[in-house]
Amino acid sequence: MADDSIAYAASNRARFLGELTKLLRIPSISTLSAHRPDMERAAGWLREKLTSIGVTAEIIGGNGHPLVYGEWLGAPGAPTILAYGHYDVQPVDPIELWHSPPFEPAARDGSIYARGASDDKGQLMTLILAAESIMRSRGSLPVNIKFLIEGEEEAGGAVVTAYVSSHAERLQADAAQVADTAMFAPGIPTLETGLRGNVYTEIYARGAAHDLHSGLYGGVAPNPLNALAHVIAGLKDLNGHITIPGLYDDVRMPDSAVLDSWRQLPYDPAMTEAEMGVTHLTGEQGFTPLERMWARPTLDVHGIQGGFTGEGAKTVIPAEASAKISMRLVPEQRWERIFELYRERVLQLAPPGIELEVRLIHGGNAVVVPAESRFVSAAQTALERTFGRPAVLTRSGGSIPIVGTLKEAVGLESVLMGWGLPDDNLHAPNEKLSLDNFYRGIDATIRFWQIVGGLAE
Ligand code: BES
Ligand code: MN
Ligand code: MN
Repeated sequence: MADDSIAYAASNRARFLGELTKLLRIPSISTLSAHRPDMERAAGWLREKLTSIGVTAEIIGGNGHPLVYGEWLGAPGAPTILAYGHYDVQPVDPIELWHSPPFEPAARDGSIYARGASDDKGQLMTLILAAESIMRSRGSLPVNIKFLIEGEEEAGGAVVTAYVSSHAERLQADAAQVADTAMFAPGIPTLETGLRGNVYTEIYARGAAHDLHSGLYGGVAPNPLNALAHVIAGLKDLNGHITIPGLYDDVRMPDSAVLDSWRQLPYDPAMTEAEMGVTHLTGEQGFTPLERMWARPTLDVHGIQGGFTGEGAKTVIPAEASAKISMRLVPEQRWERIFELYRERVLQLAPPGIELEVRLIHGGNAVVVPAESRFVSAAQTALERTFGRPAVLTRSGGSIPIVGTLKEAVGLESVLMGWGLPDDNLHAPNEKLSLDNFYRGIDATIRFWQIVGGLAE
């Protein structure tokens, strides 16, 4: 019985990949307003796909990009899973570094290459295709499922946050399942048990009323680019320690059992060095690389704009400049408070003659999911059966804002079971998803629901 669904998935692999390819062709970049029509196309495609497999689905419009919500509630008495994924993707620049165009999916070396392949369309599709496989092979699902699919994850998730906060009743479930994370390494099934939070900001610096000749005014003119350099240098030292007073007040390290379990993972810092193409890792002294990535706050500059960067030389003192800066946060740090501490520090570092404005773009808290629950156990069993070895429990340095909101507003714990790999090039050129992981993700999801719904042990 149970195997019919796995068999269905196995015999439909080529078509499943074809469907993923169609979704990947839609350039649904949430942060660029020119792609608004693509957002609607992707949402519409997903709604139709859900409808075609018997899930009642609707598009929820609003101020931002549409949400796709679907439900199948035909298993009274069985648990309900809220399945989450996102259809929006990151921008593609620098485009010239892609080996094949980002929105023309290409299968090579056992992976499919396209923007959104791993983050998150390929993972999102494992949820939908698992549902299809069970529906088509058995006619019904062993669990109730609510699909919550957003189009703004990469943009901070304002729409889904507002929706979840005001529809806690409708979204009630026994657990959330998030397909938007990564495996520890190829072939090692993984459950993530924590994500970092973040605060994303922008600093505007203004000096003179207009650009100035640097010979005529240099010596008396305020320079917003120098000012930004000074401010940035005052936020973090060369040891990776953030120099914002109070920032570490609430930082709590995981307990020693968790830290020990991280030391047992088959991790070699050379793995991370190879992924990044560097010869040594930077960061805070006294913490292992996994601790630095999973359990310590960080601050990074993403971009600086301003002044002259064209060909040759132009002796100008720019009138304005700006920088995008974000911090990753760990459990117990509250993003609103961290933003205030940061703002105060930036303003305190402002050189004379420079007007600084600190803007918040978005924020979200870190999450930790309890490792002891029947849903986590079911996921562990499903993963072990699918991959032929036990799952490891890890955390990730990344952020998925909705996970915290689901907990705070609906009371849902999340199972973070994902199919990415560390070298999937998320947010970078040549993003990919391993095809093995795509198919195994479908199988493991089928098994997870079978176990949770009592169809399998
Ligand atoms: N799926 C990622 C986060 C992720 C990746 C978690 C790998 C675990 C493993 C997500 O799409 C992402 O990129 N999130 C953003 C959130 C931000 C824009 C609020 C991030 O982490 O930068
Ligand atoms: Mn994602
Ligand atoms: Mn992402």
